[in-house]
Amino acid sequence: MTNAAARRGACVRALGTYSPAAVRTNQDLARMVETSDEWIVRRTGIRERRIAAEHEYTSDLCTAATRDLLDRAGVAPDDVELVIAGTTTPDYAFPSVAAMVQDRLGMTRAGAVDIQATCAGFAYGLHLANGLVSSGVHERVVVVVGETLSKVMDYADRATCILFGDGAGAALVEAATPGRFRASVVGADGSGGPHLYRTGLSRRIEGEAAGTLAPGLVRQNGREVFRWAVETVSRSVCRLLERARLTADTLDWFVPHSANVRITEAVCERTGIPLDRTLSSIERCGNTSAASIPLALAPAIADGRLRPGQTVLLYGFGGGLVHAGQILEWGPAGATAHT
Ligand code: COA
Repeated sequence: MTNAAARRGACVRALGTYSPAAVRTNQDLARMVETSDEWIVRRTGIRERRIAAEHEYTSDLCTAATRDLLDRAGVAPDDVELVIAGTTTPDYAFPSVAAMVQDRLGMTRAGAVDIQATCAGFAYGLHLANGLVSSGVHERVVVVVGETLSKVMDYADRATCILFGDGAGAALVEAATPGRFRASVVGADGSGGPHLYRTGLSRRIEGEAAGTLAPGLVRQNGREVFRWAVETVSRSVCRLLERARLTADTLDWFVPHSANVRITEAVCERTGIPLDRTLSSIERCGNTSAASIPLALAPAIADGRLRPGQTVLLYGFGGGLVHAGQILEWGPAGATAHT
């Protein structure tokens, strides 16, 4: 083992998820707006999404996902030092979702902070947690991501409201020697903000027509976001592979943010990653923003496709416009792909 390989780092030791019970199919949506199952499946790959109950908010979804995580990991709430919550649909401006999760699960020793990185929230959360754990600041950090996007859709905008769904996921990032993260990148293009945003209360975004928008709803220029996502994710995936000194064919799994199956297909074509090595939650959950990557990972863990030691490339991208990703060996320290 080289010195570099033996350095302290971090691993993702376990994953938890939560999906609301109610299912909204494309046929259900076709009764709400002028659309069809055929159009939605062909243009996006989505068949259904989960919808939070009226009384269910992002903090509830995130609490349930974190409880699932701690149960699976066999970790006591008091062993967690920091909760990082990634969401673009928090219950309140404050208190933070992270503080609500910390309280409800009795994590009496943990700090709590929300991050706003839209659909890249999980990858940004892992980037921060990996840094904090690898540097020795913390031993154990929970990254929890959740969204109740169904509550902030404009149901007059059929090109947008058909895309999004609700859900949550959580990861336990823990010290590991050697570290399991092979590379981690972040990036942003704030000039693209007007292409995908949630209307604010204080100031109109550039180009927004005066007085036409209710506050708090998602607006997007789907074509621009599509084009940006394909170019940015393809370029960044190559950068991550270079940093990790890996090639596309050595990846076991590619898990891009589940936004649209056609974005994933285009990125795979450009990067040479085989489409059958991708994991996605798009078909059953729709676009769940920050939660889409853990919701794609969980079923693959459950059915044995994703195993400890396998090499996984995660990539999140979304409103901001922001993006982030990692290459990591899946699972706790010491696990190998063939055990
Ligand atoms: N049902 C039926 N027709 C619809 C529709 C719907 N839900 N939404 C839009 N259309 C129509 C449009 O009105 C338009 O009709 P026209 O040609 O008669 O004017 C036609 O379909 C094409 O519209 P367009 O907006 O060009 O469609 P598109 O092929 O770009 O698909 C998206 C729209 C939103 C699915 C696509 O742009 C997309 O997925 N973009 C990325 C969005 C995304 O992933 N955002 C989140 C990133 S984190």
